[in-house]
Amino acid sequence: MTSSGIVRAFTRPGYAALQLYTPDRAPARVDLSDNTNRWGMPPAAADAMRRASLESCTRYPDAYAAPLKEALAEYCGVNAEWIATGCGSDDVLDSAIRAFGEPGDKLVTCDPSFSMVQSFARMNGLEPFMVPLTEAYDIDADRLRDANARVVYICSPNNPTGTVASRASVEAVADDSDALVIIDEAYAEFADANLLDLARSRPNVLIVRTMSKAFGLAGLRVGYAVGAPALVREVEKSRGPYKVSALAAIAAVTALRNDLSWVRERVTQARTGRDVLERGLVARGMPPLPSSANFVLAPARNAEAIARRMRELGVAVRPFSQLPALPLLREADGAAIRITVGPPNEVADSLDALDVARARCA
Ligand SMILES: Cc1ncc(COP(=O)(O)O)c(C=O)c1O
Repeated sequence: MTSSGIVRAFTRPGYAALQLYTPDRAPARVDLSDNTNRWGMPPAAADAMRRASLESCTRYPDAYAAPLKEALAEYCGVNAEWIATGCGSDDVLDSAIRAFGEPGDKLVTCDPSFSMVQSFARMNGLEPFMVPLTEAYDIDADRLRDANARVVYICSPNNPTGTVASRASVEAVADDSDALVIIDEAYAEFADANLLDLARSRPNVLIVRTMSKAFGLAGLRVGYAVGAPALVREVEKSRGPYKVSALAAIAAVTALRNDLSWVRERVTQARTGRDVLERGLVARGMPPLPSSANFVLAPARNAEAIARRMRELGVAVRPFSQLPALPLLREADGAAIRITVGPPNEVADSLDALDVARARCA
């Protein structure tokens, strides 16, 4: 049987069209393509991993990562039964969609937003539906609500725009809809405010967060959800046991207990670097969207070519060629590059490489 015959014979209908996620991960001297923590790993967490006993790798970890839930609960100011964990927030999002959406249901998300969510919807048999952001880069509460979806996904600060959803719009969606409202706050630590309180005040709101960004633990894969105990129990059921490895749990708990001031200092530095990067882009006639995250999105005609040139110069950024024509992206026909904010030398490297790449692409 040919490989396409095998796919036809055995794959679930609607599944075969899904593609593997294949980011361009060729090594780069300065990788500013994935919004991770460019300052590295929290020191106490790194130490704890080095000292971890090998026995912790031989035994199964706690089934639902109870010690990690305790530490996250303290960090978020809730009780542990309000927390579910996962193998990265990808796993938490996937599990939540599976727990609350039946195959055939609709999941509504914004355009543009974190694109993996559309894949998670499809993997679980749901139909993704997109609602454009407004001209003010806010979510369109009316259209999200009117979509009559089973799951609403809102990302704030939003990837890839860096912009935030207004509290009023998010509350309007949560209050006037029977849907599960997932608010992805992967970049919450870099913003002025967050929406965590909505998990406590709204029974249909699930906040999803990660330790991959501000906490610098992307390689360990630790994500979590905060929501009413009845909600997070369903997410855990759908997720299954043993999803946070023993070493990941050791590092994450240590980071939460002993590295918070390190994390906060790095967040402050990222916010300062964001201002510098934004000013540099404005000076180059590429005013970025107003960012509340650790990255900025700047309009760039020839985004793919510019990113390729920048990578040749050792600096990796993420190009987008077909984003909706939001106001600051209009002149570039929706083409843009997303640049992660790193320490000052990396901000300077990114602007220098951008200058050379643009000159070569002109
Ligand atoms: C908005 C958003 N949500 C979730 C994720 C997934 O993060 P992780 O699975 O590493 O927790 C990312 C990663 O880039 C993201 O940008």
